[in-house]
Amino acid sequence: MGFDEMEYLLDHYKNPRNYGSLLIPDISHEEGNPSCGDVIRIDLKIVDNKVEEVRFSGKGCAISQAAASILTDMIIDKDVDDIKKINKEDMLSALGVTLSPVRYKCGLLALKVLKSGVYGITDWPGEKE
Ligand code: FES
Repeated sequence: MGFDEMEYLLDHYKNPRNYGSLLIPDISHEEGNPSCGDVIRIDLKIVDNKVEEVRFSGKGCAISQAAASILTDMIIDKDVDDIKKINKEDMLSALGVTLSPVRYKCGLLALKVLKSGVYGITDWPGEKE
């Protein structure tokens, strides 16, 4: 894991993008990782099938929170149908670091919350592919 790659992740952890909540979200979904209790909530404002606004909140390990920040940056202004195509590999590579398999759930928690909220897909991303 290179220093610069770790910096990128830590920057998202320390300076989370799109952090907070929306007053009247069209979609709001919260879920946790049962193995550690870490939680993420994602609020979305959808206009013309696009993500016009997104906020996340929660508490948890640096990887899960940084991943949520990175994911919210990825989906802003994106078509909801394109969000469905974001898969486990996309999410993990967007983190910029190679996670060990035991940390996959940390890196994928935000994507799980997003997909559960938008599509009711409750499996961990990639678990039943
Ligand atoms: Fe809980 Fe990372 S340790 S999501």
